[in-house]
Amino acid sequence: MKFSNTLIYWYLQNKRDLPWRKTKNPYFIWLSEIMLQQTRVAQGLDYYLKFTSNFPTVFDLAKADESTVLKMWQGLGYYSRARNLHFSAKQIAFENGGQFPTTYKDIIKLKGVGDYTASAIASIAFNEPTAVVDGNVYRVLSRYFGIDTPINSSKGIKEFKELAQSLIDKTQPGTFNQGIMDFGAIQCKPKKPLCMFCPFSESCVALQKNLIDVLPVKEKK
Ligand code: ADE
Repeated sequence: MKFSNTLIYWYLQNKRDLPWRKTKNPYFIWLSEIMLQQTRVAQGLDYYLKFTSNFPTVFDLAKADESTVLKMWQGLGYYSRARNLHFSAKQIAFENGGQFPTTYKDIIKLKGVGDYTASAIASIAFNEPTAVVDGNVYRVLSRYFGIDTPINSSKGIKEFKELAQSLIDKTQPGTFNQGIMDFGAIQCKPKKPLCMFCPFSESCVALQKNLIDVLPVKEKK
């Protein structure tokens, strides 16, 4: 409770002003989350604006030729993302009447959508309390709670997922998820995190115990 309240308070004051944060349209949220897989926000931004203006609805994307879609994707890399996006757009438009799936369980069935992306879309567009877990989340939680379970072990993966799930704000899960993404990216950075101005400095275990540079732990395989 305390963790999520502090996080959300920090987020509301520090959040990045991003175009997909001004909408609840699941199609737009989906586009942004697919683009942000393996891609930095700064780079994804231009492509998001280009896609949403050229394909303002899922029908527009579905009707386009694959070559047009791939051309618009040029420069972003990992082209399977664009192919899956186009494939799923056709499925949503022509088999599902344009209705985007509304739950985590159905969203994760879309091609190219894994646990992180389904959690992000379900929470941001549909207020479903499904926690995202990525490198940012591992870093923030391992430091704040002083957890040294390796993040690349099956025990660690399960432990951090359950912890994030237990912390998520059930009334504003999308805000919580985007809060922890931004907090990890801006404040609790891998190197030289901004602990001097951190709202968690009183209760962060890693800071108290001088473990900031040790956590998160990754085991050598
Ligand atoms: N990375 C992945 N999804 C994101 C989002 N919604 N906002 C900022 N960074 C992200």
